[in-house]
This record gives sequence, C-alpha cells and structure tokens, in this order.
Amino acid sequence: MRGVILLSVLLCATCHIAFSIRDGLVPNGDFELGPKPSDMNGTKVLNRYAVPRWEISGFVEYIKSGQKQGDMLLVVPEGAFAVRLGNEASVKQRIKVIKGTYYSISFSYARTCAQEESLNISVAPDSGLLPLQTLYSSNGWDSYAWAFQAEYDYAEIVLHNPGVEEDPACGPLIDSVAIRGLYPPRLSNKNILKNGGFEEGPYIFPNTSWGVLIPPNIEDDHSPLPGWMVESLKAVKYIDSDHFSVPQDKRAIELVAGKESAIAQIARTTPGKTYTLSFAVGDANNACQGSMVVEAFAGKDTLKVPYESKGKGGFKRAVLRFVAVSNRTRVMFLSTFYTMNDFSSLCGPVIDDVKLLSVKNPRRMM
Ligand SMILES: *[C@@H]1O[C@H](CO)[C@@H](O)[C@H](O)[C@H]1NC(C)=O
Ligand SMILES: *[C@@H]1O[C@H](CO)[C@@H](O)[C@H](O)[C@H]1NC(C)=O
Ligand SMILES: *[C@@H]1O[C@H](CO)[C@@H](O)[C@H](O)[C@H]1NC(C)=O
Ligand SMILES: *[C@@H]1O[C@H](CO)[C@@H](O)[C@H](O)[C@H]1NC(C)=O
Repeated sequence: MRGVILLSVLLCATCHIAFSIRDGLVPNGDFELGPKPSDMNGTKVLNRYAVPRWEISGFVEYIKSGQKQGDMLLVVPEGAFAVRLGNEASVKQRIKVIKGTYYSISFSYARTCAQEESLNISVAPDSGLLPLQTLYSSNGWDSYAWAFQAEYDYAEIVLHNPGVEEDPACGPLIDSVAIRGLYPPRLSNKNILKNGGFEEGPYIFPNTSWGVLIPPNIEDDHSPLPGWMVESLKAVKYIDSDHFSVPQDKRAIELVAGKESAIAQIARTTPGKTYTLSFAVGDANNACQGSMVVEAFAGKDTLKVPYESKGKGGFKRAVLRFVAVSNRTRVMFLSTFYTMNDFSSLCGPVIDDVKLLSVKNPRRMM
C-alpha cells in the first residue's frame, strides 16, 4: 500500500489523476489496526506508539464497536474500531504530501458524554478549533472537513481534544481520518464564480450516508470548499450523488442550519454592469419535507426562492438579476427556515450550479 502511494507521488508529482489515487483514508485512518493486548489496560492505550501508524498522547482509549458506556452503546462508522480522546489527549500521524498543495482532511466524530465539545485539528503552522456542540446527524456521528496548505513535503496531522471534563472518559470518539488534495478551480468565461458547482471539495466517505460538514470558517483562511466561505455560527453540509439527490453533477451543498449558516463568495464585478446570478434549489432526497426558502444575495440585491420539498429529491432553477454597484460583489446563500427530517437530523434546501455572468446587452434581454 505505502509502496504504491510513494511511487505514484514520485512518478506523477504534478499529475492530478494519479495524485487522486491517494485520496481516501490515511494509513490506518479507520483505526482497524489496534494495539497489542500488552499495550492496553482495559480500553486505555498505554504506549505512545501502540496504535499502528499513529502516535498518541494523553488518555486515549481504543474502542470496539458495540462496547457499552453506562447505558450508551458505542457504535463505529468505519469497520469495528475507533479511538476516544480523553482530556487533552491527541492522536498524530505524519504523511507525505506535496509542498504548496492544498489538502482537505475529513474525519468522523461522535460525542459521548461531554457537553461543550470542540476539537483542535492542526497541521503546523495551521490549526482550527472546530465547535462540535451541534449534532447534525441522527445517529450520533458527524463527519467534518478542514483544510490546510502544505508548507513542507510532509504533514503532521494532529487531532487534539482540548477539553477538560471531570470524567476523562467523556471525550469524543474519532474514526475514519481521510485526506483529499484540493485543486482550486479557476475562473472561466462561463462563470465569474469559482467552484460554482461545488464539485471541488473534501473527501466524502463512501461508507457513510451523512455527508461531510464544512464548519464555520472562523479561523482558517483555507476553505475545504475552494472558493467559498462558510459564514456565521453553524456548518453547511457537503453532499454527493452517491448518497443524495444532487441537482447537477456529483456534489452540492445542503443548507442545514437555517439563517445560522451561509455560504458566500466575493466576485469581481464592474460597477454599472448588469449580471445574472443563476442557481438551482432543491432537496437532497433525505426525507426533508416542507416549505423551504433559499435567500440569495448579490451585494444589496436579494431574491427569495421558495421550494416545496416532498423530501424525495428534485430541484428548480432561479435567477437573480442585478446591477453591480462596486468592484466586488458579495454573493451569499442561506436558508430562511430550520428544518428537521423524519429521523430528526438537521436538514434543509440544497443549492447547486451557481453561476454569475455579466449580461452583454441588458436591454435586449429584458
Ligand atoms: C490498570 O488499571 C487499573 C485501574 O485503573 C490499575 O489499578 C492497574 O494498576 C492498571 N494496570 C496496569 C498494568 O497499568
Ligand atoms: C491547536 O493546536 C495547535 C498545534 O498543536 C496549537 O498551536 C494551537 O494553539 C491550538 N489551539 C487551541 C485553541 O488550542
Ligand atoms: C466500506 O465497507 C465495505 C464493507 O463493509 C468495506 O469492505 C470497505 O473497505 C469500506 N470502504 C472504505 C473506504 O472503508
Ligand atoms: C475599484 O478598484 C480600483 C482599483 O482596483 C480602486 O481604485 C477603486 O477605488 C475601486 N472602486 C470601488 C467603487 O470600489
């Protein structure tokens, strides 16, 4: 496995296709390879190097799916094992990367008994403190993405629980750590926005059905969703056509947190020129039903797009036409309402295929 990875990097350091072979779990990213019994006391891992490929520090437990904690049954999304990070504990892995390239890390996470949880994910010199209080999916597991730009030809990924709970066994469970190289899309004459179809983004686990959350972009400048910022307090969900209904191509965004989360991009525009912002609004075929409204903004102009969702997939298209008043126009989308699906997970309208174009001859088009 490692031989193949190294070879493909050496042969094809600048080649997108060969490089994407590496996209996926990092070595032992699902923690299926565990410590020797002699390196454990109960569930506690005793030796820093006991979990193959990883280096641990602090109170780290090795958890088998089905294990009980009080009346809580711990289940694991990928395979049969996961780790739990106690107070101030961390897991770390060094992997080979290409200096200067952007990467996104995806991982799955489950809260156990702690309340105010957050996780510090870092690849020096970048780090991000992800707020994890909100549970988005209904089964206890959420997947998150975080991005960095490689400063060296290796990256040391650290997942650290900065929490200090009375019960050190209340930390988060971590499973399925994966990486994906990001190729920042370029502008084209077909779209003034970058990554308007959301095709470029973090790794989505083939074996999970809850997408990947793009956390609010408070601290990092490198978005796991190239071109886009996630604003305000809550995350948006990145979904794919393998698991959801998606208006165009393979990937889209589900606005899962009402007005508390918005995605935005700043476009270069020419004051006085007329533009059209076109996009698709739909639902993800995830039993998310009801009257939905997507609010689109282009500078000071807005458009509210109602969408009646039966929760079975489908979409419509909308266009916001506006005259730019500045060099830079902020394009933004949010969902007016909060919605929960039948399985009581947060859900909402899907947006996709966002295009911004200048109108050559506005009068004739009227
Ligand atoms: C294992 O843990 C128990 C309880 O925490 C402790 O009493 C015992 O000494 C530990 N054993 C080893 C080998 O560390
Ligand atoms: C997160 O971890 C990084 C690297 O270990 C550290 O530099 C940073 O200060 C930490 N941030 C927080 C908020 O704990
Ligand atoms: C997905 O699950 C199947 C069957 O459980 C397993 O064989 C496969 O390795 C998993 N895929 C990944 C990427 O872990
Ligand atoms: C537009 O950009 C130019 C330079 O790029 C700047 O000098 C000018 O002030 C900007 N105008 C507005 C309205 O932002």
